[in-house]
Amino acid sequence: MDQSRITKEGIRIHAPEDFAGMRKAGALAAQILDEVGDLVAPGATTGALDEFITRRVEELGATSATIGYRGYQHASCISVNHVVCHGIPGDKVLKDGDILNIDVTVILHGWFGDSSRMYAAGRASLKAQRLLQVTHDALMKGIEAVRPGATFGDIGAAIQTYAEERRMSVVRDFCGHGIGRVFHAPPNVLHFGRPGKGAVLEEGMFFTIEPMINLGRPETKVLADDWTAVTRDKSLSAQFEHSIGVTADGCEIFTPSEKFFPQMD
Ligand code: MF3
Ligand code: CO
Ligand code: CO
Repeated sequence: MDQSRITKEGIRIHAPEDFAGMRKAGALAAQILDEVGDLVAPGATTGALDEFITRRVEELGATSATIGYRGYQHASCISVNHVVCHGIPGDKVLKDGDILNIDVTVILHGWFGDSSRMYAAGRASLKAQRLLQVTHDALMKGIEAVRPGATFGDIGAAIQTYAEERRMSVVRDFCGHGIGRVFHAPPNVLHFGRPGKGAVLEEGMFFTIEPMINLGRPETKVLADDWTAVTRDKSLSAQFEHSIGVTADGCEIFTPSEKFFPQMD
């Protein structure tokens, strides 16, 4: 029997056996993010990191979800310093102290695994290190709010409260998303909000949480390449992303790794 159904908000409730597919796809995304971390160093180009990711996705028997997605040409997004998300890999050379997000989405046996994390090239400044710590911990606060009966507003509020209490700001212009046998599905998972608001979480929902946190103001703009999103005030921005599934008593992280954080030297 197909136990999948769709809620009134358009959110798919997956069957228990669907968790296995997401676990494998998520583990593969996490493995590639583990491996590419060894190549992050001053002097490396973002294009070289992306070429490695492209090759590993193929060698591991998966497909890139981003190559060909809405015209995007690469297996990763690499967002350096004040780039918020959707940075396009290319000939940019990393320099000592740069912080960067690498975001990889793979398709394995039809299931999508989407994760991103932060790295530092050489030695990040103390304020950059603090941004990474707070952004990582904000994601984990959001994940801790996930259980059947909680709401998407509870997740957003947990993230927003944590970041703003530390005088950092939450990007409003991009959000997490439902995931599964498709890349981006309902709902929009906002990283800000009010407790008790939004759709109620149910066992079997699969989605990402991927907060972007800025040291300065939250506003972003998209560059002329139509992809690269940057902070308007040029302040540093960080992001961590996990794909998760709601379980009977909480959630399963599909993209875990001991190296998820920290990646500092
Ligand atoms: N992986 C990103 C996300 O977290 C989406 C990247 S789409 C791309 O949803 F086309 F820019 F690669
Ligand atoms: Co995502
Ligand atoms: Co992603």
